Amino acid sequence: MRVLGIETTCDETAAAVVRLEPGGAGEILSNEVMSQIAEHAAYGGVVPEIAARAHVEVLDRLVARALERAGTALSDLDGIAAAAGPGLIGGVIVGLTTGKALALASRKPFVAVNHLEAHALTARLTDGVEFPFLLLLVSGGHTQLVAVRGVGDYLRLGSTVDDAVGEAFDKVAKTLGLPYPGGPEIERRAEEGDPTRFAFPRPMLGRARPDFSLSGLKTAVRIEAQRIASPTRGDVADLCASFQAAVVDSLIDRSRAGLRLFRERVGEANAMVAAGGAAANGAIRRALARFCGEAGLKLVLPPPQLCSDNAAMIAWAGIERLSLGLSDDMTFAARARWPLDADAEAAHHGKA
Ligand code: KG4
Ligand code: ZN
Repeated sequence: MRVLGIETTCDETAAAVVRLEPGGAGEILSNEVMSQIAEHAAYGGVVPEIAARAHVEVLDRLVARALERAGTALSDLDGIAAAAGPGLIGGVIVGLTTGKALALASRKPFVAVNHLEAHALTARLTDGVEFPFLLLLVSGGHTQLVAVRGVGDYLRLGSTVDDAVGEAFDKVAKTLGLPYPGGPEIERRAEEGDPTRFAFPRPMLGRARPDFSLSGLKTAVRIEAQRIASPTRGDVADLCASFQAAVVDSLIDRSRAGLRLFRERVGEANAMVAAGGAAANGAIRRALARFCGEAGLKLVLPPPQLCSDNAAMIAWAGIERLSLGLSDDMTFAARARWPLDADAEAAHHGKA
């Protein structure tokens, strides 16, 4: 089975072809990602209108290149998968409409993929992880601990009550005058800094419910940065290192609470999996490795380029759904909000 994936929910335009091998393993045949960082950098964050327009400009060429590099014609595909949300609606519509049009023209099955489900299932593409597993999803828009019991079967154990992890990195970077996106930049600066110089808060430490909170930490960094009248490069490095250390401690403490709840509600986990852009962070990855070592849990960390937004994960989610006989029709509408778990989904529809 070969599936084309399309991703346009945020500031990355991406197209990829993934193949399901007879044994059940996935093989990435092509994985094209075009980042719009340069277009948004001047604004210090993603501008939805610019993002949507940029997706329109490059998506056709990117799809052609993904097919070409995979040595695959449209007619060789077994399905076309496009992220249908959650995300910036203008951009989502671009990818979703392109995916539908290609499916219609080539008479292939179409799959509308939940971007969060694609992050969640990436570890099955890279490492063939078996259900159920504990997922720590840390992206620019989401921070959640989820029990992944099967395709389409998610139990949210906890989530952030304010900022997402990537969002906190981006906002702290902005406060410190560092360029967008903040995550990679803070990680680089932190390498030269002293993580013990500033004693920033570790929000929610010790709480039984595995929720997250990062806005107090973000404010603490801002106050400290303002106190230093004209911060030197060394001060900025120390602020970055101390902030990152607080995030890491909080994530590990919250993961510990998440694992406890997972064992109570679901049973033993086959692995812990991290996904989302912030899962590319080296300090977070090292701390998770220590934590899982102590907890006797297998840790699966997809390579950094598959943690941040890409289309291979969309194609793979398409393969997983098609393998179960699931596909979508042309009426599937783009969704700005699309929770993973059924409870939140029901609550959302109740409100609508
Ligand atoms: O998953 P992703 O590519 O897009 C969303 O779906 O949100 O995540 C992007 C986020 C950004 O906030 C970015 O600052 C953060 O992931 N990020 C990082 C790192 N690389 C990307 N955060 C911390 N450390 C990193 N190395
Ligand atoms: Zn993402």
